Amino acid sequence: MSTDSGAFDDLLHEERRFSPPAEIADDAVLRDPSVYAEAASDREAFWAGWAAELDWFEPWSKVLEWDPPRAQWFIDGKLNVSHNCLDRHVEAGRGDRRALIWEGEPGDTRTYSYSELLEEVSRLANALRDLGVERGDRVTIYLPMIPEAAVAMLACTRIGAIHSVVFGGFSPESLADRNNDARAKVLITADGGWRRGAVVPLKANADEALQTSPTVENVVVVARGGALTEEVAAPMVDGRDHWYHELIAGAAPDCQPEVMDSEDTLFVLYTSGTTGKPKGVVHTTGGYLTQVYATTKSVFDLHDEDVYWCTADVGWITGHSYIVYGPLANCAQVVMYEGAPDTPDRGRFWELCQKYGVTIFYTAPTAIRAFMRWGDQWPGEYDLSSLRILGTVGEPINPEAWMWYHEVIGGERCPIVDTWWQTETGGIMITPLPGITETKPGTATRPFPGIEAKILDDDGNETRAGYLAITEPWPSMLRTVWGDDERFMQTYWSKWKDIYFAGDGAKLDSDDYFWILGRVDDVLNVAGHRIGTAEVESALVDHHAVVESAVVGKKHDIKGESIAAFVTLKEGIEGSEELVAELRQHVGTKIGAIAKPELIVLTADLPKTRSGKIMRRLLRDIAEGRAVGDTTTLADPAVVRRLQDEHEEEG
Ligand code: PRX
Repeated sequence: MSTDSGAFDDLLHEERRFSPPAEIADDAVLRDPSVYAEAASDREAFWAGWAAELDWFEPWSKVLEWDPPRAQWFIDGKLNVSHNCLDRHVEAGRGDRRALIWEGEPGDTRTYSYSELLEEVSRLANALRDLGVERGDRVTIYLPMIPEAAVAMLACTRIGAIHSVVFGGFSPESLADRNNDARAKVLITADGGWRRGAVVPLKANADEALQTSPTVENVVVVARGGALTEEVAAPMVDGRDHWYHELIAGAAPDCQPEVMDSEDTLFVLYTSGTTGKPKGVVHTTGGYLTQVYATTKSVFDLHDEDVYWCTADVGWITGHSYIVYGPLANCAQVVMYEGAPDTPDRGRFWELCQKYGVTIFYTAPTAIRAFMRWGDQWPGEYDLSSLRILGTVGEPINPEAWMWYHEVIGGERCPIVDTWWQTETGGIMITPLPGITETKPGTATRPFPGIEAKILDDDGNETRAGYLAITEPWPSMLRTVWGDDERFMQTYWSKWKDIYFAGDGAKLDSDDYFWILGRVDDVLNVAGHRIGTAEVESALVDHHAVVESAVVGKKHDIKGESIAAFVTLKEGIEGSEELVAELRQHVGTKIGAIAKPELIVLTADLPKTRSGKIMRRLLRDIAEGRAVGDTTTLADPAVVRRLQDEHEEEG
């Protein structure tokens, strides 16, 4: 991604503007624009105001201790996240309110009230304690999108265990790597889950991962239920594996929540970076909960009657912050859906919106582009008049997709919140406020009140086109990288002094709105999922036929980016279609299906500088069929011509 791409200059001249509709603005959680100035004049007081809306067992003595890049928020404050998401609502007389409204892909449904969720969380928390899980221990969660995923996360927080949720689409090897890096003691999984009418065999994957996960002592297995459990044989290993339903049936329904320090670790979530090894982003308790609580309430303008649906998977940060912790801390009514948007047909999301009367809908641009492609007839079949607020996250949204979302899904009446943030930021950072901000298609607009973002050049000078930087600490910021503080320092804090480097390029327009251009490092964003080029490269060179590979992103109409790999084979090995298919599958086996390259070009050479550095820019040009830029620094300029020929043969 280069920060000076001309195509984006056109976007900055976007003239279409959308003011908050009066019916939203008049009653919005945040409706007075002075909130920005107030928050800026005393950021600590602003965040402390939000923190005070949570339940604390003991108050904090100081809001912020900032010893860059170390931040501690709400020093000495004691709280428990599951207590804040469950008990306090039940104690306030709201136990019968719906907490989770779940639908499985085959159409089975379950609803949990806040009291029911509290009881199940408490039972599982007791069961985990019985399995020897103690405060600070790590628990891996590898589940489909079923209510038990939220139960498992909350049960960990109740006893002070640190969860590490691993997306169900990751391979056994990726799961084992994460188990080992975190030294997880327990794994919570399911026999399987439904995706596009097929079963994802999670327990079988887990069994494979467990062969190389020596720290995991016990496995809890959810019977996903219905036809699935009949279909998947999940042989249970005596003494190691336990059925979830048996454990909770045998556990006491009350569980005293652990009193946690504000800065105790809440969870670790692995995300891709610029090396072959994903990093465990560490989030802590008080600051994280405060920011996700505040942003859920104000960015989505959450009111009592709202029915809230975020279509992410709990395996990603969006699922953590905006399916589980933010909404439940707000006592929201949360819709959760297990499966794919096109099963049994392409109207499934809109059918769910109509059926449950969804009022707030939060999804990714890649999904919106797919819906657009599928055609207006699908949403057209359903009554979407309950929708009030629409959100997007995960990648830049092109104005065309934004307009389609606005017109076809939002009926031109729903504000769109384009929210920029990251696994590392924990919560939303740059976003419109639906009752205040005039939006323009394609921009995330302004930093949330209490957040200070700037665009800087390499030397740390302010500029209007450069790198996105966060210049002041925020409550839900990552605290370190699990087991690798050096990487934390290097990745985020070494570019400038005491300023957070987000890894994204951005521009400011004449309204001082932020336009996020995408990653400036070797991280790809494929259908809203982060994948490191180095991860895919190391999966490829792991194959016996491969000597070297270089992976780049290639523009994709729906996914935003897709993966293109240039691969050099060992001497004497003949390239063939079968081998290309095998390489693609090998990446799937090593990482997961989301990382499979769409394009693999077999090549005798890779373009390198005289110092041996692969020139990715040229590879991107070739992958996208563009005229190749400056090649004067190449060691062997003839390589590019050969590569172009090879690529054409592939195509
Ligand atoms: O490049 C930015 C992009 O997604 C990256 C963060 O990915 P991840 O940690 O997986 O978290 C995704 C969900 C929060 C960012 O560095 N990104 C996220 N939101 C936006 C975005 N790019 C443009 N606009 C957004 N709204």
